[in-house]
Amino acid sequence: MRQQLVDKFLEIYGEGDGVGVYFAPGRVNLIGEHTDYNGGHVFPCALTVGTYAAARLREDTELHLYSLNYPESGMIRCSLQDLAYRQKDGWGNYPKGVVQTFMSKNCRIGQGLDILYYGDIPKGLGIGSSASIEVVTGLILKELMGLEDITMIDIALFSQLAENEYIGMSCGIMDPFTIAVGKKDHAIFLDTSDLTYMYAPLALAHEKIIITNSRKSRSAVDERYHERRIQCEQALKELQTVIAIRDLGELTAEVFEKVQEMIGSPVRLRRARHAVTENQRTIQAVEALKRGDIFEFGQLMNASHLSLKEDYEVSCEELDILVEEAWDIDGVLGSRMMGAGFGGCTVSIVENSAVNEFIRKVGENYEQRTGLHAEFYVVETGNGASVL
Ligand code: GLA
Repeated sequence: MRQQLVDKFLEIYGEGDGVGVYFAPGRVNLIGEHTDYNGGHVFPCALTVGTYAAARLREDTELHLYSLNYPESGMIRCSLQDLAYRQKDGWGNYPKGVVQTFMSKNCRIGQGLDILYYGDIPKGLGIGSSASIEVVTGLILKELMGLEDITMIDIALFSQLAENEYIGMSCGIMDPFTIAVGKKDHAIFLDTSDLTYMYAPLALAHEKIIITNSRKSRSAVDERYHERRIQCEQALKELQTVIAIRDLGELTAEVFEKVQEMIGSPVRLRRARHAVTENQRTIQAVEALKRGDIFEFGQLMNASHLSLKEDYEVSCEELDILVEEAWDIDGVLGSRMMGAGFGGCTVSIVENSAVNEFIRKVGENYEQRTGLHAEFYVVETGNGASVL
């Protein structure tokens, strides 16, 4: 992949030395959904698929961006002095947003860049493709601009800031963080309230992680995501009138029961309950994994789905059908919707011996019930962003 990307880079941008190649993965979240902006825990891992980029410094202060995945967008050109968001720049706004964010954080970006991107993350899955473009761009800036003080965590934070303020999507820290610091055969137990984290071994000798794409096209995800965020913030304010907490993630289910009556609407109560119980499930799931109890881990994933469906209301008919069909198969330890929701994909842990049956049966029954043809990906965990 490295040499192919360099060859393509030289063909597009012209011969010359100084081309570096970089990679940032996609991510899968095993449990801890919609907790990362509620000060809760998440438990994701980096994948082996992701975004590759070849890059070289320019003599001037221009930024030239090209993606092999979006050849129809052509070459996107802008100057470092004018990085404003432009609709017509499409995917190119992600890297532009990262450069702008680095500059706003006083990182010296004195020279322009030529960058060629290529991603092997299937479209529409919701496994962090935009965050992987952002993090790989951040890594390029760190390396080529000599920003030695910038850590991988800074790159994750700047990527989130670019997404929040430049792109306008109010996502949490989970995706860029996982992509920046992921580790093969490990998941990251991250406390999003203070960014402390530890790696938990995930050597699944007898099981596979399967991502199933519902292929249900999503609409208004950003708006509905933002709405959930606001509802949780309001519920938190209501609870803060009786209890000194900074985040919903600080509450145990028992304490929540005692104070929940302060929340003035049934909808906000359900949202907050999900944020609290999902965080508790994530903590329990990591403990179960440490004990080697993958069965319990799977049960908690299933409970996560029900909470996302009933309390957080971010699932949809297609995701529910995929999950129900998965639960019906012997050898499926756990299955649930993953990521923002309203479409996208599910994540399942399936015993090796049941993988073929899972793909066949879930695929057939899903198609029969929805008319949609699901796609299945048996994924492997990988390392975080790196220079190749
Ligand atoms: C999206 C966001 C993440 C996280 C998940 C839900 O993937 O980018 O920050 O909030 O949704 O867990």
